[in-house]
Amino acid sequence: MKFFLDTANLDEIRQGAASGVIDGITTNPTLAAKEKKPFRELVIEICNIVKNGAISAEVVSTDYDGMLREAREVISWHPNVVAKIPMTPDGVRALSVLSKEGIRVNVTLVFSASQALLAAKAGAYFVSPFLGRLDDISQDSMILLRDILQIYRAYDYKTQVLAASLRHPMHVVEAAKMGAHIGTMPFKVFEMLFKHPLTDRGLESFLKDWEKARDTLGEISEPVGARKGGR
Ligand code: E4P
Repeated sequence: MKFFLDTANLDEIRQGAASGVIDGITTNPTLAAKEKKPFRELVIEICNIVKNGAISAEVVSTDYDGMLREAREVISWHPNVVAKIPMTPDGVRALSVLSKEGIRVNVTLVFSASQALLAAKAGAYFVSPFLGRLDDISQDSMILLRDILQIYRAYDYKTQVLAASLRHPMHVVEAAKMGAHIGTMPFKVFEMLFKHPLTDRGLESFLKDWEKARDTLGEISEPVGARKGGR
């Protein structure tokens, strides 16, 4: 499963990228608006931090011509930019044209299997079902994810399923169990994936025991410059 961070915050993106397990970034107009920077500049900086990652930049026009124009514009900013287009009739029409031009499109705001089917037929590179927002309205988002994956497998669609709006670690785990290609999550959810109280407790006792026997055990490696006499 690929991990994307769902943020436009450069500090979070730098920390995530440093972990070595982040494969891309999804932004949206709400996330971009929080950063108080020109969008183009922000997207290019993100691309330069997450080298070789797929970076989604969303259009804000809602008509066919505007979406085409903005999608072509955002992908010209950096080779790693994926144009993000909302799941509307105009969006699908624009997607059909863009995908034929070889432009990678992430279809966003997907809430049903029929929408996901349309996106795949029109050549989407990513399809983004918003799982958390469905759970928010008491609809089981995992049923949607399972249906989309089942349909895509049945027809061998190449569109990658990007599980979005993930709100907690179990969303990530469930999406991974289903076989979603990608999960995009806020930085705080990514941090939560690392945590387990037994890991903390176990490490604490290992280090205490090591400390007690340190004189016998010696050092595993010495900090640079600490070795006397040189070698
Ligand atoms: C995905 O591309 C969206 O930016 C995102 O996952 C939306 O998440 P939210 O429902 O937490 O806003």
